[in-house]
Amino acid sequence: MALSMKQTLACKAAGRSRTVSVKALKYADELVQTAGKVASKGRGILAMDESNATCGKRLQSIGLENTEDSRRAYRELLVTTPGLGKYISGAILFEETLFQKPEVLLDGEHDIDACLEVQEAIWAETFKYLADNKVLFEGILLKPAMVTPGADAKVKASPETVASYTLKMLRRRVPPAVPGIMFLSGGQSELEATLNLNAMNQSPNPWHVSFSYARALQNSVLKSWQGKPENLAAGQEALLKRAKANSDAQLGQYDASGESAAAGERTYEKGYKY
Ligand code: 13P
Repeated sequence: MALSMKQTLACKAAGRSRTVSVKALKYADELVQTAGKVASKGRGILAMDESNATCGKRLQSIGLENTEDSRRAYRELLVTTPGLGKYISGAILFEETLFQKPEVLLDGEHDIDACLEVQEAIWAETFKYLADNKVLFEGILLKPAMVTPGADAKVKASPETVASYTLKMLRRRVPPAVPGIMFLSGGQSELEATLNLNAMNQSPNPWHVSFSYARALQNSVLKSWQGKPENLAAGQEALLKRAKANSDAQLGQYDASGESAAAGERTYEKGYKY
């Protein structure tokens, strides 16, 4: 964006470069509005930004070849699900993935305290750099992993424990100016991811606490679809069911009583690549 003469002079008068903050001005309102729309009540993100290789693995799990046609058919199933917009406020696509965002994987036997320590260190450093670079906090959404024990830890954690550790980490590290915390599911089962989110929304938080799940929104979609055109509606019904469950969890009103055993299936894979 070209600076107006007045703004350029103001910058020079200040005696140091302020280009970054001046540049943000033009887009600041739109950015804040967009972040607010994405982080809106009862809604979260459908993450469908798997690389082609990972999308291929998903398709392989239901016996489909990793061709462009299969990937398109599957992605079309997801985005054309009627009524999905009621629960889903945005989608993340492959090309838009920011691969340098830090990622805390579930791998390991460590306990939940170790995960808390690592996450605190990572987010302290990340927010320091964001602040140093004058990032507009009102215009960002944070997509962290929840604070949980490692996938092979002996002691598992209840949704209440995961919620209490995760919220503790967020309160210690993430300024309230950030509008939304949109969790990844990270290999949790669909049910765990929904129960943990629900537990985090039992009382008000400084940020919109919601979901940006891939595996925990897509696992039962694939199982229902099986790559067969005649199962398209069943696949879309499965997506809508998970989207609504997580929408309820965003509002802290999720009731797990109608869930099938399939929702409890683990989606964890060691050394997972997004
Ligand atoms: P998972 O929910 O499968 O961990 O993926 C989320 C993600 O980061 C993709 O954008």
